[in-house]
Amino acid sequence: MTEKDGFQQHVANVYREHRGQRVVSFEYQGKRYWLKQVEHLAGAMRLLKQNSAAALHKEIGVLNTLSHLGAPVPAVVDFGDGYMVVEDVGYTINNILNHASQTLWQPILNDVSIALAKLHCMLLAHGRPALRDISWQKGEVRFIDFEANQQHMSITSQQVRDLLVFIHSLYRYIGPNNRVINQAIACYRLAGGEAIWQKAKQFLASWQWLYYFARPFRHTGGKDLKPVYWVLWHFRQVPLTPI
Ligand SMILES: Nc1ncnc2c1ncn2[C@@H]1O[C@H](COP(=O)(O)OP(=O)(O)O)[C@@H](O)[C@H]1O
Ligand SMILES: [Mg+2]
Repeated sequence: MTEKDGFQQHVANVYREHRGQRVVSFEYQGKRYWLKQVEHLAGAMRLLKQNSAAALHKEIGVLNTLSHLGAPVPAVVDFGDGYMVVEDVGYTINNILNHASQTLWQPILNDVSIALAKLHCMLLAHGRPALRDISWQKGEVRFIDFEANQQHMSITSQQVRDLLVFIHSLYRYIGPNNRVINQAIACYRLAGGEAIWQKAKQFLASWQWLYYFARPFRHTGGKDLKPVYWVLWHFRQVPLTPI
């Protein structure tokens, strides 16, 4: 049995044991991998099942393309009908923030912002770079979960959306920790993201009414609404030049 056969046999076993489970991690010869399967949806959502198979298929294509372009994404090491296997790229940022000392938050979030700016400088976009879909390991940032990637939008619109989702996610996970978030976003701007930051600010100009609407909920709203206020606040108060 070749090395490759051994690995594929192992994947087949993991697949059999965890059939229908969205993601499961496993080890093979001391290395960690993730098996991701087509999302199984209940009830009326089943009608979308066709779409979830297509979504996983699309994600495999996007990951392969991005990895050929040298973007920081996990390598797809195997795939088949309804599943793919990717290399482990470490803990996701939301996990790290929960467990690491607060003194580490700033350098890690700066690394993540710079990585997002670099991805954007390659004229690429993620689609939904929430902190649960970005990993960090020994200073290396990787982007995972490309299912929300929207190739039909212009690349600039996709990048503006990336930045807004990213800032929203920062506020969602660490609250109005404005000093830390402002510094991380300044890193994004200085690392090549300035034009996109300015575009995002322009885009939000027509959404300022939402700032007043969301204001009463800035400390008490739900976990998705609260950060909306802070995203708008961010673009109102941060100076036009990054430093
Ligand atoms: N390559 C990977 N390295 C490390 N963790 C991963 C990897 N792939 C998935 N995960 C973990 O599994 C979770 C779910 O995987 P994800 O691809 O985001 O699926 P979903 O589309 O269901 O959100 C991630 O948030 C992350 O915690
Ligand atoms: Mg995800």
